[in-house]
Amino acid sequence: MSEPGEAVTAATFRLEEADVASPRHDAEVLAAYVLGIPRKALPTVSGWDTSQARAFHDLVAERARRVPLQHLTGVAGFRYLDLAVGPGVFVPRPETEILVSWGLQQLAGVPAPVVVDLCAGSGAIALSVARESPAATVYAVEREALALAWLHRNAERAPVRVVGGDATDAAVLADLDGEVDLVLSNPPYIPVGSVVEPEVAEHDPPAALWGGPDGLRVLRGVAARAHGLLRPGGRFAVEHGDRQGRSVPALLRAAGGWEDVADHPDLTGRDRFATARRAAG
Ligand SMILES: C[S@@+](CC[C@H](N)C(=O)[O-])C[C@H]1O[C@@H](n2cnc3c(N)ncnc32)[C@H](O)[C@@H]1O
Repeated sequence: MSEPGEAVTAATFRLEEADVASPRHDAEVLAAYVLGIPRKALPTVSGWDTSQARAFHDLVAERARRVPLQHLTGVAGFRYLDLAVGPGVFVPRPETEILVSWGLQQLAGVPAPVVVDLCAGSGAIALSVARESPAATVYAVEREALALAWLHRNAERAPVRVVGGDATDAAVLADLDGEVDLVLSNPPYIPVGSVVEPEVAEHDPPAALWGGPDGLRVLRGVAARAHGLLRPGGRFAVEHGDRQGRSVPALLRAAGGWEDVADHPDLTGRDRFATARRAAG
């Protein structure tokens, strides 16, 4: 038997040296994972056996190599959900939670809303809407085979209709054209050539990240598809990078057919998502 508290302190130093952003948090999450207990229960544990100590050591070594924490535990928390994640799927980020909040507010007073998540990845957005707005019919569109497999897995027991296909293709969900109340999307939006953290560069799938030279290649197609899907008055929200708070609203205004175009910050005050209402006609 050794002592988890001391191991967590040593791991915190190790992760700090590896430039991990939240070393203490990550060390505690991994210790709790090995012990099979909630993180807040860690102080109540005074010892662990050799195999648990070894498993923790190995996981910390992986984390120090900048493998994402969520790939090591297999789970990413998002709003009220724990989503299964791993190689081949984008790890959902907390900044996307606020886009979901905005979307849910738009559904107030709509009796049986139809909602589409374009570029669904693990299903974080679609599954959250389905969970928090049970009257909604929710579709989730994803093109990449590996991500689609994770999406199917997360949607197994959820009332979400998973669609494999290109979110920018007018043929995908064409039967819903003009009938959708809300389209939400977190597409790939990083300009090619940008420098990103090792967790992102080496473990998030390239199709989830890169959006061409200006980052907006997929987003433009998603906006056009959202316009086709929405009923007049239907709402659209799309996440973007913190330097795209002007260019994304500008591209929506330039495309035409949108009203009430606005941009919104995330909880850290950075420009994060644009919204618009489909104009009539
Ligand atoms: C940034 S990730 C977002 C995933 C998820 N919505 C989230 O917020 O965690 C973007 C996702 O879009 C998918 N994707 C990229 N281009 C696509 C396209 N043209 N059609 C459908 N999915 C696409 C990627 O495979 C990836 O899963």
